[in-house]
Amino acid sequence: MMYPPEVIGEVLALNDIVEVISRYVDLKKSGGSVKGLCPFHNEKTPSLSVSADKQVYHCFGCGAGGNVITFVMQIENYDFAEALKWLADRARYTLPQAADVEASRRRLAEKERIAELNKLAARFYYENLKSGSALAKTAERFLDMRGVSQAMRLKFGLGLATSAWDGLHGHLTKLGYQPDIIARAGLISANKTGSWHDRFRERIIFPILDINGSVIGFGGRILDAGEPKYLNSPETPLFEKGRNLYGASFARKAKSKHIIIVEGYMDVISVCQAGFANVVGVLGTALTENHARLLKKMNCESAVLLMDSDEAGTKAALRAIPPLTDGGLAVRVAQTADAKDPDEFIKKHGGEAFAAMLRDSQSHVTFRISLLQKKYDIADTEQRVAFTKEASEILAQQGGAIETDAYAKEISDFTGISPEAIMTEVRQKKDAQTRTLADRPHLRRAKGGGDEKGLLDARKTILSLMAGSPAIAAAVAESKSLSPNEMGGGVCAEILRHTFENVSGKPLETADVISRFETVEEQSQAAEIMRRDMPFENAAATEKGVNEMIRVIKRAHLNKLLAGDLEIKAANALLGEIIKLDKLHIKINLSGG
Ligand code: UTP
Ligand code: MN
Repeated sequence: MMYPPEVIGEVLALNDIVEVISRYVDLKKSGGSVKGLCPFHNEKTPSLSVSADKQVYHCFGCGAGGNVITFVMQIENYDFAEALKWLADRARYTLPQAADVEASRRRLAEKERIAELNKLAARFYYENLKSGSALAKTAERFLDMRGVSQAMRLKFGLGLATSAWDGLHGHLTKLGYQPDIIARAGLISANKTGSWHDRFRERIIFPILDINGSVIGFGGRILDAGEPKYLNSPETPLFEKGRNLYGASFARKAKSKHIIIVEGYMDVISVCQAGFANVVGVLGTALTENHARLLKKMNCESAVLLMDSDEAGTKAALRAIPPLTDGGLAVRVAQTADAKDPDEFIKKHGGEAFAAMLRDSQSHVTFRISLLQKKYDIADTEQRVAFTKEASEILAQQGGAIETDAYAKEISDFTGISPEAIMTEVRQKKDAQTRTLADRPHLRRAKGGGDEKGLLDARKTILSLMAGSPAIAAAVAESKSLSPNEMGGGVCAEILRHTFENVSGKPLETADVISRFETVEEQSQAAEIMRRDMPFENAAATEKGVNEMIRVIKRAHLNKLLAGDLEIKAANALLGEIIKLDKLHIKINLSGG
């Protein structure tokens, strides 16, 4: 493969499949998915389904399918590299030159080291908080005072950095790590004389996890008064504030389509403790489109912005709206009125009042228009006109015709300017976005090889199970009972290798698996494998099924070898192996994950 997976991953992340396909196909929401007329064959009813969640498409009519790269390859008739380039250009992303590829491999290795160090650091801080030392007691008292439950302390892995200059540094160097990598992880820094010291001292530590639950950085809150109140990890190869949200991995598990966005660490914990697990915090930075993308990845459809009730909070909310709406999220805004922030609000009024406040949140359009009203004196004609023009600008940024109409009426009631005039103004401001449906030559999809159907099905099913479940993948890998050369080559062998190499403990990402392949045919096959539904009802049936599939695959392989030109001795050995297959049994522990 020409580009490292990291680069392909970036290009995938920057090109939302729904957006890209929308350039060619008129897509409409239908139930949980997005549908349109398939551009790869003639049809009158839509059978092209696009999943924003998995970032893949599939046509139930002609069987075309894959990720965004596959789509561009098919529709533009490009090869893999051309499609990647096209998508990179579209996102203004510069693809690395061949010489850079080696460097990016090194970067990837460094990221893995930093992840390791962060994990050790999180454990170290956590133990400190539990140590019973005088400072640990002070820290526990602070958390008691702030009403943070033991369950939340555990869930968020709160820890403590002691006053030592050499605490974490000493701990990690004793484990054999060199100071320069610990420094690149942002955990220590050098002073003028060149000696190393811990970055976090005498602070409550909030580990920051990425969406998959790996520790990528830390926030540290001072125990008493002092500046700065919060100290965060610096940006490292692993920690980018603009791409991560505090609490994202926990919120993801809450599986809600709605997300509550707050400003601080303590706010996230309070809101979560009050029973709203679907909450994330921005890490002392502005919300970006990358954050919106992250939320989409978590399957969120709407967000309530809950910024601090001061002017800075209002400004932050205003600034956060465009990236979120551009990212395809419905945005509402709530304010904590007489409390400084969500944490204080919950302390003061409790969880039910908090839920009520969420219900009373305003759509971002209403929020913006009502803020705008405060700036103008409507009694004055000139100001009334200026207000209406500015409000029309806000409406012009909206998609929905019904919404626009409703707001136009509201503005009309308020200003006395006719809704028609306002609508005309809005229409003029709207960019005429005409989408031309490209008429592309019908692309025929190659059918799979000459394998027997049942065998092919067994191969594909076991791969989809292994890709989706690290526990199954690990059990099969450990048993050493299945090898890529038994998979009939091609896509199946490659995906098996991929599942064996995956040691992350997480399922493989569909879009990543697809981009391991460079032709449309291979990508479609990979997509088809990854799209399969779980065929078994429970753990016992899964274990039984996996074993059966392995037997089918191995038997076919052995039979094929047996059909070759063999010496008697070798043939007997193969027969022995075929007989032994009946005894093959792999145990799979599915309760563990
Ligand atoms: P605040 O300074 O508003 O927190 O920072 P607060 O509400 O008064 O104090 P606590 O947290 O309730 O004790 C809110 C958030 O802004 C970021 C942090 O994420 C913090 O949680 N922040 C604040 C920083 O990153 N650095 C700072 O120096 C201050
Ligand atoms: Mn606070």
